[in-house]
Amino acid sequence: MQYRTLGRTGLRVSVIGIGAGGPSRLGQRDDIRTEAESVALVLRGLDAGINFIDTAEAYQTEAIVGAAVAKRNREDIIISTKKRLRGENISAAELRAGLHDSLRRLRTDYVDVYHLHGLRPQQYSYYAEEILPVMQALRQEGKIRFIGVTENWSGDLEHLMLQRALLDGHWDVVMVGFNLLNQRARETVLQPAIAKDIGVLIMFAVRRALSQPELLRSTLEQLIASGEIDARAINLDDPLGFLVEEGAAAGIPDAAYRFCRDEPGTHVILSGTGNPQHLDANLASFGRPPLPPQISARLRQIFRQAHSVTGG
Ligand SMILES: NC(=O)c1ccc[n+]([C@@H]2O[C@H](COP(=O)([O-])OP(=O)(O)OC[C@H]3O[C@@H](n4cnc5c(N)ncnc54)[C@H](OP(=O)(O)O)[C@@H]3O)[C@@H](O)[C@H]2O)c1
Repeated sequence: MQYRTLGRTGLRVSVIGIGAGGPSRLGQRDDIRTEAESVALVLRGLDAGINFIDTAEAYQTEAIVGAAVAKRNREDIIISTKKRLRGENISAAELRAGLHDSLRRLRTDYVDVYHLHGLRPQQYSYYAEEILPVMQALRQEGKIRFIGVTENWSGDLEHLMLQRALLDGHWDVVMVGFNLLNQRARETVLQPAIAKDIGVLIMFAVRRALSQPELLRSTLEQLIASGEIDARAINLDDPLGFLVEEGAAAGIPDAAYRFCRDEPGTHVILSGTGNPQHLDANLASFGRPPLPPQISARLRQIFRQAHSVTGG
């Protein structure tokens, strides 16, 4: 397992992190897995060397994460969780109550990274002025080790909220949407984060479009129709087939995770699954070498203008 330093937090984190939300929620979203199976999935990841888990109040997976962490050494695991905002301005008391409930479900007395979840650009001023000081106080109280913020990517495709957050420098960690289909965050988020040594968590590395062929095709059709990619660069009958044909990758999810892993400025690539075989495949992906440079360059070239999709 490869470990990296999560920017100025100094935390040593595995490059693959368990994402307990997304379309799978550890297999809980459509009741594909029992809770015990989801706990076993988290333990499988931890025992393979993953030490970073991202969950949230909104995902309803904190109790599963807590049950898994209780079976291992808490100090060895970095827990990231988030306060649900629902597009509203919550109060200081609601933030404190939310953290209190998260700690109870997680069976711990501190979280390593506590985020505002899906903060929208128009909410930023209120949260920076009114809620950030509360998070800083919770840090002083020892309940939060580091302060983070995650974006609402589908509603903020230009990463406007994170651009402001990175200018401020108040946040230790940010979570940003980035994948081979939409690489806009390279200039707007990753480069400023490198300059300020901010920890960066990547979401949407694979998501639906890069794990479901029919959705990949429709996403690419959308990008061609909008003029964001050149139809001649893609064979719609076998989109991105060159990744596998040329022996660069074991499959599209494999290429997608490695593409994000090797992007400068990224620290933890979150991987969400409810399927133990997918977890094993993803662990194998993170053990593989970088994509060949000509393949990475081709992916950067094809999607350089793409900005209107998340792949979600
Ligand atoms: N605003 C926010 O704060 C925010 C928003 C979104 C996500 N997140 C965080 O980011 C994490 C990562 O996002 P994500 O869960 O969407 O992760 P992801 O890893 O990009 O995509 C997960 C999707 O890919 C599928 N998948 C994973 N590995 C696969 C494989 N080897 N082969 C085929 N399909 C595969 C999963 O289905 P299976 O279950 O079938 O494997 C799932 O549908 C979330 O879990 C959450 O922690 C945060």
